Amino acid sequence: MKKYAIPEISEDVFYVGSKDPDLRKFDALVHLPYGTSYNSYLVKGGDKTALIDTVAPGFQDEFLSKLRQITDINKIDYVVMNHAEADHASAIPHVMEASPATLLTSPKGAKMAERFFGVNPDRIKIVDFNKTIDLGVRTLRFIDAPWLHWPETMFTYIPENKILFSGDFFGGHVSYGIFDGDVDNAIPAAKSYFAEIMLPFKNWGRKALDKIAELDIAVVAPTHGPVYKNVRPILENCAVWCSGETAEKALVAYATIWGGSGEMAKIIAESLKSEGIDIKLYNMGNTEFSEISADLIDSRGLVLVTPTILGNMHPMATLFMNIVKLYKAAFKYGAIITSYGWAKSATKHAAEAMETAKIEILGSVEVNGPPLEEDIKAIQELGKNLARRIIEN
Ligand SMILES: Cc1cc2nc3c(=O)[nH]c(=O)nc-3n(C[C@H](O)[C@H](O)[C@H](O)COP(=O)(O)O)c2cc1C
Ligand SMILES: [Fe+2]
Ligand SMILES: [Fe+2]
Repeated sequence: MKKYAIPEISEDVFYVGSKDPDLRKFDALVHLPYGTSYNSYLVKGGDKTALIDTVAPGFQDEFLSKLRQITDINKIDYVVMNHAEADHASAIPHVMEASPATLLTSPKGAKMAERFFGVNPDRIKIVDFNKTIDLGVRTLRFIDAPWLHWPETMFTYIPENKILFSGDFFGGHVSYGIFDGDVDNAIPAAKSYFAEIMLPFKNWGRKALDKIAELDIAVVAPTHGPVYKNVRPILENCAVWCSGETAEKALVAYATIWGGSGEMAKIIAESLKSEGIDIKLYNMGNTEFSEISADLIDSRGLVLVTPTILGNMHPMATLFMNIVKLYKAAFKYGAIITSYGWAKSATKHAAEAMETAKIEILGSVEVNGPPLEEDIKAIQELGKNLARRIIEN
């Protein structure tokens, strides 16, 4: 039988999760350069054993083999479900079938466990956020931390180990290594992940951070990516990402077919840069969302540059603005540049999209075909105005 490496990440806490290095799309949207992991942890508590979260569909056999390697599956007393999403909860019915365990989860988690995974309600215990569960020499404490990333989410804390099991919060899409020290891009990966999953819920993130501020945390164990032994960088960065604070930074997002809009995007980017603004130039036609997601957290300005296509923005610009709105990107000030062949109609759609995303529009330039001298001047002027507003904030 295959022998798995099962690292002990803290005293009597074992990593039994799965690595998925070849996964290239998450949520059918996000490109994953490093794959991801589905972290699960087995806690030997002295008298009782608890399993914290499980793994994604397809990994259940490997998962059960790992559990059998490290313990008698019949002796798993509790399965803690911090989050009911399939990437962490789909193996729950397999563990419940193989063991007499009780499922511990939040009130909303209980309904989801029954509905999504067919868990018998008689085997579900809703946790009391004011009480602990004694495992013998270790205790489980639960923290109500909803909307990170679904409404039922919660955290689990073991004071004896000073370890926080935070579900998707503090996660990152990284498949290699176990600890933050094994990974050279842990914080940038966590920042992209935050943008892709948590940004719409940053106010809930702030509430959760306030709640855990009183805990003594030595290890942060999320459900994706590295386990943090050096906890300050992830806790402090996450607090900044949740704060909604923006930088003197602008994203110039463009689509182009014949190059005119691309040229105009570069002109305004140069103009902003010459005023000291940090610029990210993004060709919506060939850039992955994951390459710019982190910039949605803290860019104060947005320039949308698009040709007119069938009376509207380029479809990639429409998609991008939809993402900006849904993910509650931080942009405060915007500018619009459109190119058209015979009728000015894209600007109206771009302006509507910016307004619904609560972005204050400082101006727009409409250009017939590729830009001429006077268009270039107008674009440079628009860049300077936007830069001034970004700096004034
Ligand atoms: C598929 C397609 C559809 C277009 N639809 C429109 C349109 O509805 N109205 C318009 O004024 N121009 C339309 N155009 C013309 C472009 O907006 C125009 O050529 C623009 O300058 C191209 O900008 P680019 O150089 O950034 O690709 C269309 C062009 C293409 C290729
Ligand atoms: Fe999730
Ligand atoms: Fe997840």
